[in-house]
Amino acid sequence: MRAVVLVGGVGTRLRPLTLRTPKQMLPVAGRPMIEWVVSHLGAHGVDEVVLSLGYRPDTFQRAYPDATCAGVRLVYAVEAQPLDTAGAIRFAATEAGIDERFLVVNGDVLSELDVSALVAFHDEAHRAHGALATIALTPVDDPAAYGVVDTDSDGRVRAFVEKPAPGEATSHDINAGCYVLEPEVLERIPADRRVNIERETFPALVADGLVWAMSQPGWWVDVGTAERYLQASLDLLDRGAGRGEAGHVADSAMVATSAVVTRSVLGPGCRIGRNARVEGSLVFSRAVIGNGATVSGSIVGASALVGDAASVTALSVLGNGTEVEGGASLAGAVLPHPDTWPSA
Ligand code: GDD
Ligand code: MG
Repeated sequence: MRAVVLVGGVGTRLRPLTLRTPKQMLPVAGRPMIEWVVSHLGAHGVDEVVLSLGYRPDTFQRAYPDATCAGVRLVYAVEAQPLDTAGAIRFAATEAGIDERFLVVNGDVLSELDVSALVAFHDEAHRAHGALATIALTPVDDPAAYGVVDTDSDGRVRAFVEKPAPGEATSHDINAGCYVLEPEVLERIPADRRVNIERETFPALVADGLVWAMSQPGWWVDVGTAERYLQASLDLLDRGAGRGEAGHVADSAMVATSAVVTRSVLGPGCRIGRNARVEGSLVFSRAVIGNGATVSGSIVGASALVGDAASVTALSVLGNGTEVEGGASLAGAVLPHPDTWPSA
């Protein structure tokens, strides 16, 4: 089976980390996010992934020059301008010549969804009821940031409401960002303009009674914000991606023997100084944490510098190459200041 993986978004909510890097190329427990996504699909029998690219496509092409990722063949479909989710699916499927049933996944979702069970469920819904699309659902406490999906008891979708206003969500089951689509869906997506699958294509298909959904319990994270990016990384450590107490430490990381590192991810070539403390944090490649500094529950970008005895805590996010003066104290800070970012 083939899968279109959407990775063309600009990652606005993860700025400044995504100012130069697409979010799906950010490191998660030692490998780019996209590799977790593709290897999960590969484990469910997907043998070709069409990467639907727009923002900084060269980053992916340079990382996988032989067009394989986690053992799965890649096809690159690069949009000249962002076509939004449905437009991107149509464009990518056309580029790759997809004319059979296929999968679509949001490339910023890490999960243990049983994709094979979803495909089997769709197969049955297609045969019995003519379903053209089946959406994987996952239960969340606060559905407002997602696509909320309401179904009949037999799984037919009654309503799909993207990012409902507070109090308007009618269900805690949300779109998990993984679909099985019949090729007929492509014909319902207008070409050459932006089309959003969540706000336009799915609601129209739902009105025609052609969409089904299957809810699955289990671990699921949309890695779209700094908080969830940190959470997903720490979850993966807890789920076995770490190597002991310290978490995931790259072989080339240099950690002073008196430093204390717990449940963190340390990237290649980073340096952790004497008596420094790093806990529940992500330290990217070549970043330097000074002597006696503390980094807690925060993200330190590539080549950033945290001065001696400084403290960086409470979901602070330091962009690549930023510097925190010795002795400074940052809690929940974002550097560089958002006023200095180019407009999204
Ligand atoms: N190629 C391409 N072109 N990809 C795009 C474009 C585009 O114009 N716009 C967004 N994407 C990609 C993003 O890179 C991401 O992988 C995926 O499409 C979804 O976009 P997000 O911006 O992450 O959407 P969201 O998280 O707010 O909401 C979506 O995901 C939720 C679950 O994770 C929706 O599908 C919700 O309904 C869903 O609940
Ligand atoms: Mg997302």
